[in-house]
Amino acid sequence: EAKVYFSRELLTWYRRIKRDLPWRMNQDPYRVWVSEIMLQQTRVDTVIPYYERFMNKFPTVRALAEAPEPEVLKCWEGLGYYSRARNLQAGAREVVERYGGVVPDDKAAVAGLKGVGPYTTGAIMSIAFNRPEPAVDGNVMRVLSRYFCLEDDIAKPATRVGIEKLAGSLIPEGAAGDFNQALMELGALVCTPKAPSCLPCPVMEHCEARLAGRETELPIKTKA
Ligand code: ADE
Repeated sequence: EAKVYFSRELLTWYRRIKRDLPWRMNQDPYRVWVSEIMLQQTRVDTVIPYYERFMNKFPTVRALAEAPEPEVLKCWEGLGYYSRARNLQAGAREVVERYGGVVPDDKAAVAGLKGVGPYTTGAIMSIAFNRPEPAVDGNVMRVLSRYFCLEDDIAKPATRVGIEKLAGSLIPEGAAGDFNQALMELGALVCTPKAPSCLPCPVMEHCEARLAGRETELPIKTKA
């Protein structure tokens, strides 16, 4: 059926083509956390050198927690959206104070950290701990809106909630981290906003938007 096909083909594709990104070296939750915060408003290619420098300077939660804030901001210089860096450090300090410096394998605890929203919670739980939690950002909403030909306005919170449910139901047993990253990778490399390249898409055959010739019309998004 369309869902099983999607999950299987996407995961297989990802394991074949996935890029060797520095945050994919291991599943250290702190490394995953930092990468997801940097990647929120910044492209992968831009993030890589900043990420390498940041991890060299602040290799552990404790190192980040204990650093003077100006040093953290200096290391973030050029990435913009400095509140991300301030929140990340505040979150690191919370992890040291509440959890002894260890990022907890606990969804509610992770979700409660400063600067960590639903997307980042899902990304950390799935990528670092392989928990079957969805990680839905704009890319993922676009991919799923197209594949399932969903016409709901993705600017509406209820639509996101629905897509999170759907995304959660697609996660293959024991492969949450790879599957969620596969969705992100498909959105970034293939199922792009303006001119999606459907020919290399591993799930084109059953993509409802593609079958209807409507892939560039979706997703529907009102207010900016
Ligand atoms: N964008 C957001 N998270 C990502 C990840 N883990 N890998 C690649 N791109 C991403």
